[in-house]
Amino acid sequence: MTDRIAQLRAELHRHNYNYYVLNQPEISDKEFDTLMDELQRLEAQHPERFDPNSPTQRVGSDLTTDFVQVSHEYPMLSLGNTYNREDVHEWYERVRLGLNGQDFEVCCELKYDGLSISLLYEEGQLVRALTRGDGVRGDDVTANVRAISSVPLVLTPDSGYPARFEIRGEVLMPWQSFDRLNAEREAREEQLFANPRNAASGTLKSKDSRVVAQRHLDAYLYYLLSDNLPTSEHLANLQAARRWGFKVSTAMRLAHSLEDIYAFLDHWDEARNSLPVATDGVVLKVNALAQQALLGYTAKSPRWAIAYKFQAERALTRLDAVTFQVGRTGAVTPVANMEPVLLAGTMVKRASLHNADIIRQLDLHIGDQVYVEKAGEIIPQIVGVETTMRGADLGERVEFVRQCPECGAALVRYEGEAAHYCPNDTACPPQLKGRIEHFISRDAMNIMSLGPEVVDKFFEQGLLHDVTDLYRLKLTAWDGSWWLSRGDFVAPTLFGEADRKTPTMSVSQRATQKILDGIAASRSVPFERVLFALGIRFVGKVAAKNLARHFKSITALRRAPLAELQAVEGVGEVIAGSVQTYFSKPENAALVDTLAQCGVQMAVEETHALGTSLAGQSVVVSGVFSLHSREEYKQMIEQYGGKNVSSLSKNTAFILAGENMGPSKLEKAEKLGIPVLTEAEFLERLN
Ligand code: IVH
Repeated sequence: MTDRIAQLRAELHRHNYNYYVLNQPEISDKEFDTLMDELQRLEAQHPERFDPNSPTQRVGSDLTTDFVQVSHEYPMLSLGNTYNREDVHEWYERVRLGLNGQDFEVCCELKYDGLSISLLYEEGQLVRALTRGDGVRGDDVTANVRAISSVPLVLTPDSGYPARFEIRGEVLMPWQSFDRLNAEREAREEQLFANPRNAASGTLKSKDSRVVAQRHLDAYLYYLLSDNLPTSEHLANLQAARRWGFKVSTAMRLAHSLEDIYAFLDHWDEARNSLPVATDGVVLKVNALAQQALLGYTAKSPRWAIAYKFQAERALTRLDAVTFQVGRTGAVTPVANMEPVLLAGTMVKRASLHNADIIRQLDLHIGDQVYVEKAGEIIPQIVGVETTMRGADLGERVEFVRQCPECGAALVRYEGEAAHYCPNDTACPPQLKGRIEHFISRDAMNIMSLGPEVVDKFFEQGLLHDVTDLYRLKLTAWDGSWWLSRGDFVAPTLFGEADRKTPTMSVSQRATQKILDGIAASRSVPFERVLFALGIRFVGKVAAKNLARHFKSITALRRAPLAELQAVEGVGEVIAGSVQTYFSKPENAALVDTLAQCGVQMAVEETHALGTSLAGQSVVVSGVFSLHSREEYKQMIEQYGGKNVSSLSKNTAFILAGENMGPSKLEKAEKLGIPVLTEAEFLERLN
């Protein structure tokens, strides 16, 4: 029999290349998943066959990676920049002179706007990936790069690659992934990434490679380094690299004259707007490697290549008004409202002004003609005012508001922060609504049947004021309609009258019942997520989890002195202080008490020991079961003092085997003399 694991790995590498590099899949996603499932199963059964370059390893792992710094074999240089045709012309003439009038070709490529990466391959296997770092030493990000689908882990067999080489390129976050990521962050009121480059960089430096896998990065390669390159020309080498398995852009042309180069610049200045990834210019490279060597390098960059940067798109338009938005945390953001103007292919009418300092620096007046720019940034920026166009009708100077535009409270500015905040967190409507939205969000209480729009509606109707109201909602039939009310049911004849204590609303039964079911189910959400859902400032998912595991209950957490809070992993002065401030407010303490009375989990659920019959025993659970679920069996094993392990060894006490247990596992168990128990035998053993 052929080696199925090796066969599946080779096949999956090939399909991966077809899909991510060539854009020509040969099989459906479903067929791909089936092959992947099979490989995953086989690898689980054969841990001795682990390979970091297996296609299964692309999902990433939660092992935190501390990046080790490694020296580059060849330093990673940057390129000289040019911003106009005259500069390009001068470079071209310098090259002609340097080559003593020889004919030469220039390879024109796009300049990808991500972060540069250097990949090392040995015997067709990815062995190391380094960031640029300071050009001399970079961070080893191999584990994260493995999670980028278009980076080949293993090269196409017999495609002619050198035994050892480095290939350099750019890691990018495609616009589509970037937009999705920012939309998710916006929904969670997390800080947005300014552009795909920052997002790609933040992702590649993530300590959890699963994050990289989820965010769908891409990588384009554009520079090969090796002692035995396949040809003596840059472009032909990259085309070979494409056959080996790399994603090499097809937007490359050989230019034989300056006119050819200008035509490439003109074309892509416009056409780049429809590319899936961000570009910020064009790179021009002398194509013949011998000529590159002749031209050589300055201290910082090659003489044989140069970057031409596209102009950031900029437009002039009128500032009509500045409005101020209040977020969940109370942060107030100024937004410029402008006469709509076309910029980089989209109509723009709003731009962020960030904070009071920026407004002051710009010396903005209503009615000003302002320059709006969209460089790599997705959110347009006001970069300047055309003061020469100011006339007699100049409007008033823009001042940052002193009072909250939503509730009128006097704004505060915390030491060291640029933002202004509305401190009225108990009554300011967007803060109240924002907290409810955060509470129901997926990573918190996960009441997804209740979206932000519904929260808004319920809030406006007076049904929801804070998160405890969720657990008081009731659905009642009356007079042929369904009514949603808060608190004790009150005859819906009251609806419409100003009874804010027991508001009622006519609703559709099916949709509302679903919402109520979602709310009811949230009572079993574990404590660590409840803690995150409370929205305590600076307490993110990870801090909430660590605090919950350490203190085990809200009662213990509330009483904890500062020093004990700070002793928790990942909790520093800021988080600890914020937790104490939160509980020091009586209204928060009351809210937590009410939630507890409503049945929300306020402590870590202890799994109770039921016996000791499996004390100290390692058990493998495998197959499909009929009397209990696999998870239930695993829980039972722990409750009776045993330990769940995933792979067989001579230390395994026994296997709990259901239907369809893999034959190889059975074989191995027999060889090691490990007992195989059925469900019934196992249950008997517990008693
Ligand atoms: S070639 C020795 N080609 O631009 C030449 N660079 O300032 C090595 N870049 O650090 C670079 N697209 O990160 C090259 N098609 C391309 C590029 C490119 C983007 C980046 C690269 C480099 C920077 C130059």
